[in-house]
Amino acid sequence: QIQAVIFDLDGVITDTAEYHYLAWKQLADDLGIPMDRSFNEQLKGVGRKESLDKILEHGGKHLTEEEKEFYATKKNEHYKTFIQDITPDDLLPGILDFMKEIKEAGIQTALASASKNAKPVIKRLEVEQYLDTVVDAAQVTNGKPDPEIFIKGADQLSVDPAYCVGVEDAQAGVQAIKAAGMYAVGIGAEEALSQADWVVQQPSQLSLEELKRRLEM
Ligand code: G6P
Ligand code: MG
Repeated sequence: QIQAVIFDLDGVITDTAEYHYLAWKQLADDLGIPMDRSFNEQLKGVGRKESLDKILEHGGKHLTEEEKEFYATKKNEHYKTFIQDITPDDLLPGILDFMKEIKEAGIQTALASASKNAKPVIKRLEVEQYLDTVVDAAQVTNGKPDPEIFIKGADQLSVDPAYCVGVEDAQAGVQAIKAAGMYAVGIGAEEALSQADWVVQQPSQLSLEELKRRLEM
């Protein structure tokens, strides 16, 4: 019996995962570091500073803390230009119906996003009323794949993690959900999300009925 569904934001509710990718890609190009979508799978769900560290390691490049600060800020400036025009039209197809279905069934919802930009994004998407609680980067010490952010979401809803479902598009996110002891729904390619309990390619393929059916198996 599901008591709560905890959603990731970027790449689950809206396609900001693409904006993060484009912003990092631009930065990697500036730094002369090769970056493609396959490498990007390792960055999904990972915090800003940790993502930059992974890119630098990938390119075998060393930067001072000050330089890293500069580039991380530059990436975020670029990302912010992408998100400034977000509207409810940018919700991924089907995700709002799924959230409504969950709420109508009396199940609680939470957002668990590693992004410091999560609040303005959900505001622009106008989905705040469908989320009972929000946990963002400011409230956690350890980023995904650590389970902290999902555990915190469950805590804030006073639900045992065993009765929670997490929804993620990132490898690190699915790992975090599993480490939290929750049922993991992956959104994206099966190969990238093999650790998830159920993988769908798009949010439009999600339904509470199917989720319940799978949890009973
Ligand atoms: C999410 C995204 C990552 C991003 C991280 C930090 O987890 O999936 O791609 O790096 O948030 O986002 P921020 O907006 O704080 O740079
Ligand atoms: Mg994501």
